[in-house]
Amino acid sequence: MARQYEAYPYPARDPGDEGKRLIVGSPSDPPEIDHFLFGGKRDWRKPFRALVAGGGTGDATIMLAQKLADAGAAAEIVYLDMSAASRKVAEARAAARGLSSIRFVTADLLTAPELGPFDYIDCTGVLHHLPDPQAGFDALSAALAEGGGMGGMVYAPYGRTGVYPLQAALAALTEGEAPEAQVEIAKRALAGLPKTNWFLANPHLSDHRASDAGLYDLLLHARDVPFDVPALLGALERAGLAFVSFLEPLRYDPARYLPESLHARAAGLDAPARMALAERLAGNMKTHVFYAAKGARKPAAPSPESRPRLNGLSAATLAAEIGRKGALRLTSDGLTQRLDIPRAAAPALALTDGRLRLGEIARRLGKDWLAFAALWAPAHVALTGFNLLRYSEGTR
Ligand SMILES: C[S@@+](CC[C@H](N)C(=O)[O-])C[C@H]1O[C@@H](n2cnc3c(N)ncnc32)[C@H](O)[C@@H]1O
Repeated sequence: MARQYEAYPYPARDPGDEGKRLIVGSPSDPPEIDHFLFGGKRDWRKPFRALVAGGGTGDATIMLAQKLADAGAAAEIVYLDMSAASRKVAEARAAARGLSSIRFVTADLLTAPELGPFDYIDCTGVLHHLPDPQAGFDALSAALAEGGGMGGMVYAPYGRTGVYPLQAALAALTEGEAPEAQVEIAKRALAGLPKTNWFLANPHLSDHRASDAGLYDLLLHARDVPFDVPALLGALERAGLAFVSFLEPLRYDPARYLPESLHARAAGLDAPARMALAERLAGNMKTHVFYAAKGARKPAAPSPESRPRLNGLSAATLAAEIGRKGALRLTSDGLTQRLDIPRAAAPALALTDGRLRLGEIARRLGKDWLAFAALWAPAHVALTGFNLLRYSEGTR
């Protein structure tokens, strides 16, 4: 596997692109960390130590370091990866941006506790590749400070239907070959697959078309053991980590995939069983993005002091859409879902500018807190449910 990441640092990134854009995503965007792990109340002027475990070509490292530098936060970001080629790309990206808060370490993820303790750990796309994934979860847990938390991503089995038989087939065809030759053989095999092959029948997989590194990661990886919901929750629990939330939380509500006549049956299950059911019914989850913490934790909830921040959409556009239709439509991994938000919430959404607190929005609308909270509740559920809204003091 080490040979793979020297030949194909993943994901493929060009340091020359840093002048054009900042890649932002889940997990580990600071307002999202705040919302899920710190009750939306973290004071980002306080020192913040983060570890990016299996940092690859640097996406999470650069996002965190850049956003915290912009905020003038006293941050130290430790990038840890065993691949020297990946580190070279990540270092060049940091240099292109003049970021000085990153410490680069080339070592095994299992050494994380020696580098800790950390307020936050990002581990994205790594744990399912380890020879002993539980040892990885345990090491990250041991590296966290008391009260700290982590954001992670692991591959999930059902949305990757078709990947695993094809991985096994390509392993048989490419055994003993160098990575470049494996890619060339895989491309030829892919071009000639019969239309009955399950990989071809899965419309949600496209990494193999994006780059050779993507093809290698998806179809030629030497070790790739996905986690379904029960397996992931079990690994977190054994590591002494409390599960906080999946992203996006509403995708893990089985009622989204069942007729109304079966909602009560699903509601009778406990929370882990409901999330497992949702994954099995939806069929389109290729990964699980999650937050977990040292010690029980709940995502931020609305209060007069909460500062709501929209994610990726403007208050004016959202308010206009809700005012007109009383609903939003969102498509992820091939499935369009409808989010109902009462039209009466539109004026409140129009004031969600990232600066006003909910109490202030209520006052501006001439409502007492109880009346406002009732109006806001469906918008809160729908928008936080699809990660379109977070509560955070913000990094500025
Ligand atoms: C699929 S890439 C993901 C990179 C990055 N986290 C991202 O999401 O863009 C997996 C990375 O984990 C690293 N890795 C795998 N096993 C590791 C281990 N035991 N210790 C340190 N790094 C490891 C690989 O070198 C590779 O860079």
